[in-house]
Amino acid sequence: MDGTLLEAPGQPEAACTRLKDRVRLGAYPAFEYRGLVFAYMGPPQAQPEFPVYDTFELADLEMVPYSAPFRCNWLQVLDAIVDPIHTSFLHSRISREQFSEGFGEVGQMDFFERDSWLLGCNTRRVGDNVWLRLNELVLPNFTQAGAAFATDGTARRLYGRSAFSRWVVPVDDEHTLAIAWANFGERGDPPEYNTPEGPELIEQGEVFDRSYEQRQRFPADAEAVEGMGPITVHANEHLAPSDKGVALMRRRLRQQVRAVAGGGTPDRVTDSGFEPVPTYGGDTVLTMPAAGRDEGEVFSRLAHAFVDAQFEADGMPEPRRVELVVDKLLQLESAGLAHHDDA
Ligand SMILES: [Fe+2]
Repeated sequence: MDGTLLEAPGQPEAACTRLKDRVRLGAYPAFEYRGLVFAYMGPPQAQPEFPVYDTFELADLEMVPYSAPFRCNWLQVLDAIVDPIHTSFLHSRISREQFSEGFGEVGQMDFFERDSWLLGCNTRRVGDNVWLRLNELVLPNFTQAGAAFATDGTARRLYGRSAFSRWVVPVDDEHTLAIAWANFGERGDPPEYNTPEGPELIEQGEVFDRSYEQRQRFPADAEAVEGMGPITVHANEHLAPSDKGVALMRRRLRQQVRAVAGGGTPDRVTDSGFEPVPTYGGDTVLTMPAAGRDEGEVFSRLAHAFVDAQFEADGMPEPRRVELVVDKLLQLESAGLAHHDDA
């Protein structure tokens, strides 16, 4: 797909050959990867390598392409991924229980910044278990998160990976397409959700095509992000402590925009030197009975230990990475929350 002229119908052969030699159609380099078509539309001399993330190469994970339309600016769609607390309210308390009961619990929120990554961990108590659900943004627009339906926090789960791998792509200033794969398998969402509507439920908790009344009664992500208007006026917002991820994302994007405007190049994950590029979105459930009173601080330390264990395993082959991270999780679990300092 480089603009080469393949045929010039109805022309004498000599003319056809001449046209093929001299004429090129306007074209963007494009290629297909696992059922999605990617195009590069920037300056030819600045074309980056295609980032192959580790989730694309996990064994036994079926990746099913889907796209989700939004009638608003792309940045509003990204807000949701860096605002993990919305799952407790939008997807549980305000609407119906769109994923599972465990999502209704408001957990401890912790945010992590590293290179092009912005991670938000929501750590919740579900009975005797602690559920760590890690949302991931790779700047500027690649997102992953824990499973939608693989766990409700009631059963142990060690190092589950992302329910989806998704790019939030602007169509124009007021329209967006999330272009993605839904990931099914033991470390993704359950294969029984691999149905025509499964990726829609994973994407936003409801099917896309529904009535106005359904949208009013049971709002999902589309209603939340489109409800702010086609382009949110940030000056009218009142960011609160749980919006830390939103603020961090905007600051990082602004830095990148200014760098590019000044003639620089944006950060590239492929410059990390790791192949495949490591990612972190996913969820883990550990059995750790309550340590007493307010568990926010111990949950926060647990989330840091979980994320640090994943960072330490960067660049390792997947089996070794799983071994290291799971080993660390088992250590944390057996140490328990009360003795977390010793872990
Ligand atoms: Fe959501």
